[in-house]
Amino acid sequence: MCGIIGYVGSKEAVPLLLNGLKRLEYRGYDSSGIALIDGPEIQILKKKGKLEALEQELLGGKQKATIGIGHTRWATHGAPNDVNAHPHLSGNGSIALIHNGIIENYIELKKTLLTKGYTFKSDTDTEVLVNLIAEFYDGDLQAAVIRALRRVEGTYGIAVIHVDHPDEIVFARKGSPLVVGIGEGEYLIASDLAAMVEHTRDVVFLEDGEVGTISRNGFTHIKLDESPISRSVTHIDFTLEQIEKGGYKHFMLKEIMEQPITLEDSMRGRLLEEVGEIRLGGLTEHLDALTRAERILLLACGTSYHAGLVGEYLIEDLARVPVEVEYASEFRYRHPVISPNTVSFSISQSGETIDTLEAMREAKKQGALSLGIVNTVGSTIARESEGGVYLHAGPEIGVASTKAFTSQVTIFAMLAILLGRQRGMSDSVAKELIIALKKIPSQVDQILKHQDQIVDIAKTFSRASNFLYLGRGINYPVALEGALKLKEISYIHAEGYPAAEMKHGPIALIDRHMPVVVVAPQDKNHAKIVSNIEEVRARDGVVIAIVSEDDHEVDRLANHIIRVPETHPSLMPLLTVIPLQLLSYYAADLLNLDVDKPRNLAKSVTVE
Ligand code: M6R
Repeated sequence: MCGIIGYVGSKEAVPLLLNGLKRLEYRGYDSSGIALIDGPEIQILKKKGKLEALEQELLGGKQKATIGIGHTRWATHGAPNDVNAHPHLSGNGSIALIHNGIIENYIELKKTLLTKGYTFKSDTDTEVLVNLIAEFYDGDLQAAVIRALRRVEGTYGIAVIHVDHPDEIVFARKGSPLVVGIGEGEYLIASDLAAMVEHTRDVVFLEDGEVGTISRNGFTHIKLDESPISRSVTHIDFTLEQIEKGGYKHFMLKEIMEQPITLEDSMRGRLLEEVGEIRLGGLTEHLDALTRAERILLLACGTSYHAGLVGEYLIEDLARVPVEVEYASEFRYRHPVISPNTVSFSISQSGETIDTLEAMREAKKQGALSLGIVNTVGSTIARESEGGVYLHAGPEIGVASTKAFTSQVTIFAMLAILLGRQRGMSDSVAKELIIALKKIPSQVDQILKHQDQIVDIAKTFSRASNFLYLGRGINYPVALEGALKLKEISYIHAEGYPAAEMKHGPIALIDRHMPVVVVAPQDKNHAKIVSNIEEVRARDGVVIAIVSEDDHEVDRLANHIIRVPETHPSLMPLLTVIPLQLLSYYAADLLNLDVDKPRNLAKSVTVE
């Protein structure tokens, strides 16, 4: 995810900015750049790829500037390349801007600026914003930023410099974090404490809707409506590593905990509740092909495959289009038959999984329209697909995929509504689903706030040797995902099964040593899955049940009950998977295992 650092003081800015950017590397990025004021012009240097590329250009350089801004970009609008990298310069060369977030109305703003004669070099929303600020500039940089931001819809954390103000960095925040660092005769602005703790530990955390200026003499900030703010300075005493992990012990826990935000990010600007429609920009030019689609093929591995299985239930149920989900590694070698009007979606967090990439190439070769559902912008699958949808979940660092799964399922829910609307889904059904989707982030938050009970369950079972996970219907893939999570980080053997299949074999394993996690929320399969729980209990199996908030039917049967809020049954996997992620995390942590880097596993599997 993008990172911001800005410095104004008496030290040389270049080494300080580079060091700050290095501290932001853990967030993931695809390009970087800095802008300095040193003389009559703003100097900008930006490079695609690793920070070393930028560093090479700067080392031994003559830049002695004592003010500058630096950025690591994680592409959202436009491919990762030198031109799209930040900072962006206004057309007249006087203002430089770095930006985290997404300007949602940038196309409209760009059209207006084009009519006024502005030109653009990059594909980014950020270049639109810097020119909008230039349009409003009349000698007061902060005032111009305020006027521009009042016209902006979307999210931002920004830092801005102007060649005529070699003593000032203006900043603003809405939906994207920023913190001001206070030193002696020097000030910093950063998106993340990690970028500044080596210089100061006295900081002021900014809140949404705030704008301000740092200079060599001090710092001021006000609200965007120009009302005053009073906020005290916070002294930080965390270690750098603690800060990078947001204070969490592991990246996996951080990523589980940030799902209320990542889910919002995946939905942002895509839900048109008023009209009951979905807007997925990367599919716009393929809407006709999607209308004609007679079959949808989902290609993926691991957790992404499980998200595809949820997608199958969603699309078939809500849009009535036949869906096949295939392990990418099997698909590419089994000489598949691709019928006309097949649309394939390759699903991948990393966008680099070789099996998924090759399966996508095979589907394309055989004539299927090849689309992607990918998290990492500019990755190979994103580049080679003919269109698609980004997750916008931010970099996932823990090897065990968590937030990518819930974002993938969210994309499938939106895709199913979009396809459903093309095939006669009523306004009211679409609106009901959209309203339910919008509530999901706060409902996930509610589950995360009550995780103590899951810690206790993990304590009880972390020494178990085997686990069985059962689910039915759309919650069957959740059982598969729960089992995968547990085995990959705790090394406890776990199997996921459709609950009714248990009696065709796995029931032989059940005894008092076998914990059985049953995903059993209220839905049309509820009565059936209660019978499956009875079958487990009759054989002394230990039941951990995930049930709906107000459901007490299973209380008498289960040994442990975890409740999740009510939602539309089609969206339930977004909630039922959360306790399973937490259970696997705490079980592995209690066993003192390397949660973020489990043995034998890689985050991105680029070998067959
Ligand atoms: O990056 P991808 O989504 O293509 O990765 C696919 C699998 O390798 C991945 O989901 C893997 O199963 C994870 N370790 C699951 O936690």
